[in-house]
Amino acid sequence: MKNLTEIDANSILHPATNADDFSRNGSKIIESGKGIYLRDQSGQQLIDAVAGLWCVNVGYGREELAEAMQKAAMELSYYHTFSGMSNRPQIELAERLLEKAPEGLSKVFFGTGGSDGNDSLIKIVWYINNIQNKPQKKKIISRWQAYHGTSLATASLTGLPSFHTAFDLPINNILHTESPDFFRHGLEGETQLQFSARRAQQLEEMIIHEGADTVAAFIAEPVLGAGGVVPPPEGYFAAIQKVLKRYDILFIVDEVVCGYGRLGKWFGSEMYDLKPDMMTTAKALTSGYFPFSATFISDEIWQLLKQGSVKYGNFAHGYTYAGHPIGAAVAMANLDIIENENLVDNAANVGAYFHQQLNQRFANDEFVAEVRGVGMIAAVQLVKNKNTKTFFDKSTKISAKVAQQCYQNGLISRPLPSLDSMAFSPPLICTTQDIDNIVNIFDQSVRSVMAQEL
Ligand SMILES: Cc1ncc(COP(=O)(O)O)c(C=O)c1O
Repeated sequence: MKNLTEIDANSILHPATNADDFSRNGSKIIESGKGIYLRDQSGQQLIDAVAGLWCVNVGYGREELAEAMQKAAMELSYYHTFSGMSNRPQIELAERLLEKAPEGLSKVFFGTGGSDGNDSLIKIVWYINNIQNKPQKKKIISRWQAYHGTSLATASLTGLPSFHTAFDLPINNILHTESPDFFRHGLEGETQLQFSARRAQQLEEMIIHEGADTVAAFIAEPVLGAGGVVPPPEGYFAAIQKVLKRYDILFIVDEVVCGYGRLGKWFGSEMYDLKPDMMTTAKALTSGYFPFSATFISDEIWQLLKQGSVKYGNFAHGYTYAGHPIGAAVAMANLDIIENENLVDNAANVGAYFHQQLNQRFANDEFVAEVRGVGMIAAVQLVKNKNTKTFFDKSTKISAKVAQQCYQNGLISRPLPSLDSMAFSPPLICTTQDIDNIVNIFDQSVRSVMAQEL
């Protein structure tokens, strides 16, 4: 029999993997999945408390999705959508998504993932400002701790230094304002509202310093995902949106993790009263069964794109797999499941239980400084001592150790090493019983690591 681990080690460059460690330790091969469970090569059963990469919201092995995929493939396995060509699944999906999308968004552009979605929006921002004879208005402000992808432009937007170092990034015209992480950056005695006002003021100062006529857009995740699972502090987006309006700056909302129910609302925009001019979604749109993204633009932007075609000809942007009929059919079947099984409400209710359990379980432990998140997304902040706010030395690699222990005990969690946090984003189908299992395994794992490290 072939040794897959060996072939893997000899042949694959893995994304987001330490190449040196990997060449010594090899890969973990996942063989199958059903519901919230995965099974690996050794036969170990694991609860996937991260839903893949925050995306398998309806759980693994759903027959409805497999059937939708097969049916679509038999009807029309592929045809492109360039030059005004279309297909029934993408038309039906666009209509359905626009009914759900935040007010003011009027057209949808399909792609294959979050990075190309955000990349498309950056290009559109630059393009429409050229159409409007504002060639200077091109800068895009992102935030430290943000995650928006790994393409050249979107890795530049991502505000995590390891995505820039030695890649010659960020590219021109991408700036980062301070992160909304109150736990890390709140000042002694400062309230969340005061912190939010300070962040909005810092954004305004950056805009004034750069020149408002050079700043085109601001991009934000409703809840920071890979950058720590950080919900906005009180009053944050209200204050930020005021600044954006004042200086005629577009608001791009990146809902790649939050969209389609994870927070307990259809979109983070709904939860935090965001008014996006543009919005990116991917991941949970097909629950990861098919690489697919949907980005949205307002009617004002659409009108400008029409002017652009009069001036420059075709809108010269798009991907071979844009509006893929199989992906669109999977998205439709996935939305059926989310609606029929009330998974958005389930995320709100079971998510509240999840947070309550995590908070209760670690309330008296010195090694958990806070539990963050909302709905079915959570992070546990590990520290050496919460009373003195002492962090672990980086060399301890505490989150990686906890994740490894969790895995041994049958639970997949997500370490966020630069923040010493453990992230969870379980499938939205989880019951309170599943949450008890997740919290029990995590509790046992983290305690056994801390027994050695503290
Ligand atoms: C908020 C956010 N935006 C964009 C992306 C990039 O998506 P993709 O990996 O599909 O390119 C991610 C991926 O995790 C994300 O979390």
